[in-house]
Formats: sequence, structure tokens, C-alpha cells
Amino acid sequence: MVVKAKTKSAWFCQNCGLESAKWVGKCPSCGEWNTFVEEVVVKSKNVSIGSNSNASNPRNKPLKITEISSSEEKRYNTQNLELNRVLGGGLVPGSLILIGGEPGIGKSTLALQIALDLKSYKTLYVSGEESAQQIKLRGNRINSDNDNCLIVSETSMENIFSHIKNTNPNIVVIDSIQTLATERIEASPGSVSQIRECTSQLLQYAKQSATPVLLIGHITKDGNLAGPKILEHMVDTVLQFEGDQNHMYRILRATKNRFGSTSEMGIYEMQHTGLREVSNPSELLLSQEDDSLSGTAISASIEGMRPFLIEIQALVSSAAYGTPQRSSTGFDLRRLNMLLAVLEKRAGFRLSSKDVFLNIAGGIKVNDPAIDLAVIISVLSSNTDISIKKEVCFTGEIGLSGEIRPVNRIDQRISEAEKLGFKQIFIPKHNSKGLDISKFNIKVHLVSKVGQVFQTLFR
Ligand code: TYD
Ligand code: MG
Repeated sequence: MVVKAKTKSAWFCQNCGLESAKWVGKCPSCGEWNTFVEEVVVKSKNVSIGSNSNASNPRNKPLKITEISSSEEKRYNTQNLELNRVLGGGLVPGSLILIGGEPGIGKSTLALQIALDLKSYKTLYVSGEESAQQIKLRGNRINSDNDNCLIVSETSMENIFSHIKNTNPNIVVIDSIQTLATERIEASPGSVSQIRECTSQLLQYAKQSATPVLLIGHITKDGNLAGPKILEHMVDTVLQFEGDQNHMYRILRATKNRFGSTSEMGIYEMQHTGLREVSNPSELLLSQEDDSLSGTAISASIEGMRPFLIEIQALVSSAAYGTPQRSSTGFDLRRLNMLLAVLEKRAGFRLSSKDVFLNIAGGIKVNDPAIDLAVIISVLSSNTDISIKKEVCFTGEIGLSGEIRPVNRIDQRISEAEKLGFKQIFIPKHNSKGLDISKFNIKVHLVSKVGQVFQTLFR
């Protein structure tokens, strides 16, 4: 490999990766201030990793789509059901997967667990952050061993490729992309041009050798993946590992996935022996209190393909100061304000002088609009100080005129509620079309207005 290179420098926005010939105060692309840093770049035309760089003699030729053999079934089963689900059925050979998350959330733990669980594949775990001994200690905590898992502490791209050549792994894990550096570029590790160059080399390797590569990425304080946006464009899949550090639960979501849906999520619990898969999320999202308390309502929700029941907690109290406070965790605040306005205007509940606090138990964020009905009910329950029986749950979206709008996959929601031992469920009346209520043992209430639910409940 001959590198005939001419060095030059350019300015890069550390936020979005925009390249500029001179320093700029405000990035014209992303609008951030003071993000431009000068980096030395090597612009060279003759650099290539494989032999396939001769443009006049391409190795691939165009094929008819019907002639292309599909290798859909050849996914690697990671032995981790939650991860398989998020990936859309397992690791695709040759895919580049980026796992992002805050420090301490458990990215390294997750990656090591995946590597140790893949017993029948040889994995190379490259860490630029920890020594091999530290990784071994982590492995001891997880309490799992695997002869096929190779660990190396390395940050140089060139050395990593020679380790790959010597060990010929089936899967490569890189912890983290921000610690890597290639000699081809003089910028420091973690800078935009280094991240971009290292990722593109790994991408080329992954595609040429059909080896899945897992990259761990840091995120910035406002929650974006550190490094250029281009990183997210280059990889096939972006997984976000999130959850409050104080909460025991961690959620893995795909924000981009070329080989599956992005609506799936995987739930884990951080224990002292590593991450445990939570296969029945409803159990953890419902608080284990036996007595029914006012201000809580349970929603039959769906996230991705999976139904589960979530507990909504509301606290309504008279505003101590002039302007009432509205605050919400895990639920969109604007939507909460809208629902409160609907209650005020359409159902005649006086809430404008009240503080309203809303919380979704378990520290998760929910995007399913069907949660609306439970939100409203929890607010009313707290306002009137009348508790709702533990055996009742709700599903339904609320429209601006106070109507309860139909939701998708009602069958699944009812079945899940029934499975978990609920006795009554309130569903939108419009969902009853084509639905055979008699097949359920749970009592199904069909409702079309908020007031109707209130009358049935608090009568
Ligand atoms: P880590 O994987 O190092 O996070 P990241 O790579 O995202 O920075 O894990 C971080 C936290 O998990 C750490 O605070 C300790 C905790 N932890 C456990 O609670 N149990 C365990 O078995 C392990 C390995 C870690
Ligand atoms: Mg780590």
C-alpha cells in the first residue's frame, strides 16, 4: 500500500462535520457557534485498502435485480433476544452498527456481553478505553467466558487491521470509535476527520469481508452522537442506548436501521452481574403497590411491535404561586398542555389554576398517542382524589374536541391487558368495528367522550 500524500489543513465543524477552508464563527450548516477546529487532512487519491481501486476495471458488474441472490436468512443470532429484536432479527453479515449512549450507561458492558454470548463465532473486541485486564474484570462480573472471544487494547487503525488479519474474526467490536486514529491523518483521535476516516476504513473492511462490525460511539451533552453527522450516514444501523443512570432499566432503540424497523425497542436491567434482558416489560413498568392510589392510571400501549402496560402518575395541586406549573417526565409537555386545555374547554374541569406534574413510571419515554386517555384519567383522578382500581386500564387517543379516537392494533392491547390480569379496559368506541369483544374475558368498555369514562369510573 503506497501512500503518496500531500498534507493540507481544513477547518471542521465539530458538531456537524462541515468542512471549510477558513475559520468561521457560526457554522452555516448547523448554526452552532465556535465549533470550527483546524485539522490536518491528507487528500490522497492513491490510498486504498483493498486491491479493488482500479476504476477502469470494476469488480462488480450491474445485475438484474431478479438475478441477485438474497442472503436474508444468513443473520447471526446474537443469543440476546432484545438485541435481535432491535436489529430486526440478528446481525447482518457485513453490517456496520453504531451503539451510542451517555458515559456509564452500559455500552461496553452490552458489547462485551454480546461478544461473550456469541460462542460459536470468533469475536475480536478492540478497546481503546480500557486495558485487557480491566475488560477481564468486567467479564468476571458478567460471569461469562468464551474461548472464542479475543480482547485487545489498541487505538491505532493500522494495528487493528493487522490484528484482524492475524486472527480472522467473525465479528469485530470497537470500543469506541472516538479513541481510534489512523496514521494517514494527522488530526488527534476523536476529531471529525479521524472519526470519518476510521469509520470509512472499517466500513470498507466490513463490506469486503462480510464481517459485522459493532462501533461504540460517545454522545455529546445535548444527546447527539459525538462526531460528524456523516458518521450516522455511513453506518447501516444506529442504536441508542438510553435510560436514566439512576433507573435500573436501560432501553435500546434503533434510530436508523437499514435491515429492520426502527420502532422496536429492547429493555435491559442493569444488575451487578451485567445487563439482564427484560422480556416482559409490563411487569417492570407497573409499580408493585397493592393499594390503589389516586393519580395513577394504567395505559395499554404499544412500542414497536410489542404491547405493554405502563403506569402514568399525575399530581394535581393548587398553584402555590401565580402561574401554575406544568411538568412532565417521559411525556411530551406540549401534548400534556393540549390535553389539559381539552379537559378545561370540552369537559368543564377547572385545571387552569392548578399545578400539574406528570410522570411515566420506569423512566421511559413513550410516543404512542394511545396513552392520552390514561394521562387524562390520571390527572382527573388526582384532581378529585378518587383512586382508580388496579384492575382497570385504558387506551385511546384524545382529539381536540374531547373525542376519543381509535388506536391501532387494539386486539393486541386488549390481549396483553387480559394476560396481565386486568379485569376492565376502556377502548375507543370506533375501534369496536370488526372486533369480537365476546372472545375476551376482560370487560371491554367502549367510550367515545372523556366525560363518559369519567362517569363510568367515578359514578
Ligand atoms: P459501562 O459499560 O462501562 O458504560 P459505558 O461503556 O457506556 O460508559 O458500564 C457502566 C456502568 O454499569 C458502571 O457504572 C457500572 C455498571 N455495571 C453494573 O452495575 N453491573 C455490571 O455487571 C457491570 C459490568 C457494570
Ligand atoms: Mg465504555
